Amino acid sequence: MTEKSVTVFIYLPWETVAVPAGIFTHTAESGIGTFAYGRRYIERSNALPVDPVALPIDLPPQPVTINGGLYGTFRDAAPDYWGRLVISVGMGAPPEAVSEVDYLLAANATRAGNLDFRISPQVPEPGLKPPHFSRLPDIMDAAGKLESGGKVDRHLFQLLRQGTSMGGARPKCTVEWEDGLWLAKFPAKGDGLNIPRIEYATMTLARRCGIRIPEVRVVSVGDKDVFLIRRFDREKSGDAWLRKGFLSALSLMQWDERDRVLWDYPAIADTMRRHIAAEDIRELFRRMIFNILVRNTDDHPRNHGFLIDNSKISLSPAYDIVPTPARAGVGTDFHLAMSVGDYGRQATLKNALSRASRFGISDEEAWDMAEQLRTTVCDWREHFEAYMVSVRDSDMLTPCFDGLRTGNLKLDT
Ligand SMILES: Nc1ncnc2c1ncn2[C@@H]1O[C@H](COP(=O)(O)OP(=O)(O)OP(=O)(O)O)[C@@H](O)[C@H]1O
Ligand SMILES: [Mg+2]
Repeated sequence: MTEKSVTVFIYLPWETVAVPAGIFTHTAESGIGTFAYGRRYIERSNALPVDPVALPIDLPPQPVTINGGLYGTFRDAAPDYWGRLVISVGMGAPPEAVSEVDYLLAANATRAGNLDFRISPQVPEPGLKPPHFSRLPDIMDAAGKLESGGKVDRHLFQLLRQGTSMGGARPKCTVEWEDGLWLAKFPAKGDGLNIPRIEYATMTLARRCGIRIPEVRVVSVGDKDVFLIRRFDREKSGDAWLRKGFLSALSLMQWDERDRVLWDYPAIADTMRRHIAAEDIRELFRRMIFNILVRNTDDHPRNHGFLIDNSKISLSPAYDIVPTPARAGVGTDFHLAMSVGDYGRQATLKNALSRASRFGISDEEAWDMAEQLRTTVCDWREHFEAYMVSVRDSDMLTPCFDGLRTGNLKLDT
């Protein structure tokens, strides 16, 4: 059995240099991880849990067996499909040959949240700086070549690598721009639609529906559009960064990524009630309804997040909301990734309203909210046009919104 250990660092509130919090030991073959807080860390007056759900400071840590043996916040700080591809190419190894711990170590200062993973407590702050926005043409060139298995110039690859840590499957890179850090999301090989621009239009439509979103932009790089979303877990402080902790809904709930039957919006609302302000639970309900209305079926629990500021947990601004293209003529029935109400994952307003009370919302209020969102989303075409989504792309997306007028997305059915 290959057991590997890493030191887990945390950036405490208002501090731009991380401190070691403890040791994480992971066995790849058995998929079991164990964390132990360091004695000196626990004695600090401002010590915070590295994972407020799985690793409270005052209880003996339990080994973790879900999600390949990673505690929730550790998994959230690790790269996914895209990041693993970039990192493994840099290592000259196939993605599956790199261990979880090596991915944790290889992700860099741009990783999500307020944790860092280093080989020993003495290792200094990561030296890699995120690339600047102005290098996007080179970074996208590198990403495109990497996606199609081509050879990438070493310097260009290094730029992409510097901004690679975040999760998700789509090609992306963190860049520094203006006074902040942004996640730049590129078109992917094989996209039949201009997804970056559609994500931009959908996110701004969400804002019109009263959903909290980070600052978002689209820029054109050559003949491609890039979607930029400001990182909500970073704030510039002099030459360094302050960080907030990040916890996905998957981690809040301590669900396994493969255990889809457990994924359930009302269950998230129940757990939120114990830790999080009532207003955020209403916002989750609003996001669930919006996902139904725009046919975002990729609303899995890692696409909902929470921020940890000091020890206060709140729902993060929304991200990764995009209609999932539907083929014309296949009907208007579809399912979300998580269960919504009495009728499971069925994406209907009737289903969404069936458990409104679990979100602390009366039936009347829920009905009003759904009707208000439906009315706004009914104008999606005009909105997409104003955000310069092409007529062709809007035509292709029309089947996603068919239900708004004909069936499941109406309140009286
Ligand atoms: N504005 C943001 N600030 C901080 N972290 C973010 C932000 N947007 C996204 N993230 C984090 O980055 C991850 C990847 O982003 P995103 O979900 O947009 O990518 P994706 O590749 O489209 O994902 P998927 O694989 O779900 O399609 C998210 O799961 C979340 O942890
Ligand atoms: Mg995502």
